[in-house]
Amino acid sequence: MLGPDQPVILHMLDIPPAAGALEGVRMELIDAAFPLLHGVVATTDPEVAFAGVDYAILVGGFPRKAGMERKDVMAKNVAIYKSQASALERLASKDVKVVVVANPANTNALILKENAPSIPAENITCMTRLDHNRALGQLSERSGVHISKIKNAIIWGNHSSTQYPDVNHATIDGKAARLVIGDDAYLDGEFVDVVQQRGAAIIKARSLSSALSAGSSACDHIRDWVLGTKAGEWVSMGVLSDGSYGAPEGIMFSFPCTCKDGKWEIVQGLTLDDRSKEKLKVTGDELVEEKALAMECLGESA
Ligand code: LMR
Repeated sequence: MLGPDQPVILHMLDIPPAAGALEGVRMELIDAAFPLLHGVVATTDPEVAFAGVDYAILVGGFPRKAGMERKDVMAKNVAIYKSQASALERLASKDVKVVVVANPANTNALILKENAPSIPAENITCMTRLDHNRALGQLSERSGVHISKIKNAIIWGNHSSTQYPDVNHATIDGKAARLVIGDDAYLDGEFVDVVQQRGAAIIKARSLSSALSAGSSACDHIRDWVLGTKAGEWVSMGVLSDGSYGAPEGIMFSFPCTCKDGKWEIVQGLTLDDRSKEKLKVTGDELVEEKALAMECLGESA
């Protein structure tokens, strides 16, 4: 995650009912004899877990269960992310970099930002790299070209089924993806649906949500943020919207980003056709609604 020669100390936090499984993970980490692993802290105490961390990957959240209203789920996540914000502010390194993975990832990251005012807003992000990688994977399968030659897909908006996987600027082996695939009906239809619904399809297949691909994408997200994106390439990251491309300001929105010296920047100047603009509006509207719901829950919990 931080390069081939950077030793790490892992802090793992879970809730008390999962303490046994957490200890099992700690044992496996020791047994794997990873050369770069220089310590493992496994705890159910946030005060211990967050102390001095430089990078925080927040995978804990409250999933929606049968019969639960969106507002009930949001209220639970507001409580979780409010308390994680407070622990991070007090205990983590002052320039901690955060990626929120747990759903609703964009809005959880926003709640965290609102409740951790001393952490620079640009240090709080959410993960849409998994969706980005899924888009590259689908283009690779369809074209038969290896994933390493597929670049610059974009995930716009929310890490939810309203996200817009955009291939209009993507390339396959240096050529426009639309030309190589040669099937606009597929790219505007099935491709978009598959990427939007991939998380649900994994849950259906495994009876568990994505784990390997989510973990690997979280590593990709932090690695490119810290070590930089390659020349001529961008990645998708959920970051605080400044209104670029007409996205509503003040929400966590996924944009194409380049990274250098530990800082991300939204790629500017891409052209959006009318269809893409409409799709950005749908996912932006959903995030504005989620924000309103989160703020209502935050108000009630104050
Ligand atoms: C994923 O994209 O795999 C997850 O966000 C799906 C989920 O709902 O947990």
